[in-house]
Amino acid sequence: MHVPLALNPEYLAPEVTPAEVAAEQANVTFWHEKLHAGTGPGADFTGWLEPDQILTPAELDRLIATADRLRRECECLVVVGIGGSYLGARAAIEALAEPDAPPVLYAGQNLSASYHQRLLQSLAGRPYALNVISKSGTTTEPAVAFRILRQHLESSAGKEIARQRIVATTDQQKGALRSLATQEGYETFVVPDDVGGRFSVLSAVGLLPIAFAGIDVRALVAGAAACARACREPQVERNPAYYYAVARNRLYRKGYAVELLSSFEPRLQLLAEWWKQLFGESEGKQQMGLFPASAAFTTDLHSLGQYLQQGRRLLIETFLQVAEGEPAVVVPAEAENADGLNFLAGQGLTTINREAYRATALAHREGGVPNQTLTLERLDAFALGALFYFFEKACALSGYLLGVNPFDQPGVEAYKGHMFALLGKPGFEEQTTALRARLADAGPAPEVRFP
Ligand code: PA5
Repeated sequence: MHVPLALNPEYLAPEVTPAEVAAEQANVTFWHEKLHAGTGPGADFTGWLEPDQILTPAELDRLIATADRLRRECECLVVVGIGGSYLGARAAIEALAEPDAPPVLYAGQNLSASYHQRLLQSLAGRPYALNVISKSGTTTEPAVAFRILRQHLESSAGKEIARQRIVATTDQQKGALRSLATQEGYETFVVPDDVGGRFSVLSAVGLLPIAFAGIDVRALVAGAAACARACREPQVERNPAYYYAVARNRLYRKGYAVELLSSFEPRLQLLAEWWKQLFGESEGKQQMGLFPASAAFTTDLHSLGQYLQQGRRLLIETFLQVAEGEPAVVVPAEAENADGLNFLAGQGLTTINREAYRATALAHREGGVPNQTLTLERLDAFALGALFYFFEKACALSGYLLGVNPFDQPGVEAYKGHMFALLGKPGFEEQTTALRARLADAGPAPEVRFP
């Protein structure tokens, strides 16, 4: 089946040429085979490779039925999760949900009291459902938010109704969330052992909230599966995901430090957040990796644009374009032409936005930012599924080419240890004393205050 996306690498040259990418073929084939044979680093976390096999057909039917039931019973859904347990769903919902779709709200992706206070206020008097998502079942942010929201729902709707409106997505057997769900009798979905958080959007983690928002999850999975089949091709010139992975790797090795994912479509802004986590957590280790950043154009051309054009040359850029656009929004003609815009009269915003992209890509190339463009033929569930998979597959290969295990995230634990110690979690007593002493000591740089 046709995969509706393509990569244009023209503006990567002269820093990276097609011949240079092709010269990496032996290395690519080596890691491609290891990835598919399950013999590369982190091979236990490659269950995402076959997106249409993550859920059985029966589980997908149950998931869609649950989403439909929650839509009938509730006005909105609160997704409680963080990182890979929420970003994929949010990316898809922001990209594809119709304006009249039932709202999906988010909790547990920060620890802000005011954020959660406002959320609770907005839920007052509304019938709502909760989908708490945590693979480990023990992550502090969603666990805290879930406790608060569960009690709120139980006291507003009653314990029995709350039980019917709470769905837990977690490990099959272990973790505090699994125990709680079993004890309370919540409906549950499983995060497979072999799928890590940031690769889980096409599992129940992403699909249940996405289905609640009225998006065709079967089409999303079908798009991913079509891309998966196409991505079995190891030849870089016939596999844009691998071409992209090799090109960014070559640029990293030439000293570039940041990859900017830029889009002219605001509906893709959360997709960029998902992409940042995917590449940031997969590659940012052993003091290596491109720092993933994003820009929303044309908005950010009026804030970051100056730096991108003339600031320190450490950036590469990947444009994420959508070829097909809304045709109906057109600049009207005006007899007086007081604003001088009649040269655009009759032009669609889609055309104007496309020219803005073409102008920006060229200007950035001329300013010394090597850039490439990934174009989606259209923005629908099938194409978005293909795009999710494109980046997952590219990320796996890119991590292997870089020389890291793309499927672990040991660095994420560092702040957690400190936070648990400061909050006095049982088992962290020794660190608590040491850390409190360290924080009490201003050291060589005391706080600077206005007199
Ligand atoms: O990609 C990852 O593994 C992480 O971002 C996790 O998804 C995130 O830390 C949340 O973890 P959990 O689902 O265990 O609550």
